[in-house]
Amino acid sequence: MLKEKDILDERKSKILRQKSNEVTFPMKEEDISLINEMIMYLRLSQDEEYAEKNNIRAGMGLSAVQLGKLKRFFVISYKKEDGTFEEYKVVNPKIVSNSTELIYVEEGEGCLSVNRYVEGIVPRYARVTVEYYDEFGNKKEVRVREEIAVAFQHEIDHLNGILFLDRIDKKDPYKNKDNMRSI
Ligand code: NI
Repeated sequence: MLKEKDILDERKSKILRQKSNEVTFPMKEEDISLINEMIMYLRLSQDEEYAEKNNIRAGMGLSAVQLGKLKRFFVISYKKEDGTFEEYKVVNPKIVSNSTELIYVEEGEGCLSVNRYVEGIVPRYARVTVEYYDEFGNKKEVRVREEIAVAFQHEIDHLNGILFLDRIDKKDPYKNKDNMRSI
């Protein structure tokens, strides 16, 4: 089972700044297992009782590179209001189209590899269409919006060695705020 300590911290791990490599199919058994463990970790992290007891933060996205593997895959697990999860297992993703509208997360974006609050706006597309493969090599395409769209863009950035804080203007953290919608 994945533990919080398995997730790399950006202040200690330079690998988080590296670009991940395309995955070839069939995927290795160990990578398919890892994908399922990553999903389990995110689900548990969003269980308030479990998270508090184990002193872990809630997360809705996790990339292989955050566990030290430079492979282009990530998972998203988003707990909806009715308690069910909207989940994606995403391999070799590519954004094929995006909205012109930009959004940002009002309270700031978070990352399980960034254990501090970073002030500022991270501009994201409000909607993106993503082509990707599932863990068995089946091609998929999905149009996502709002929180899920932000999560996809955040995780795709991880695959390219980019952290959310890299997208915040250092001199003017709230630059262009009025041209974007907060969510
Ligand atoms: Ni992250």
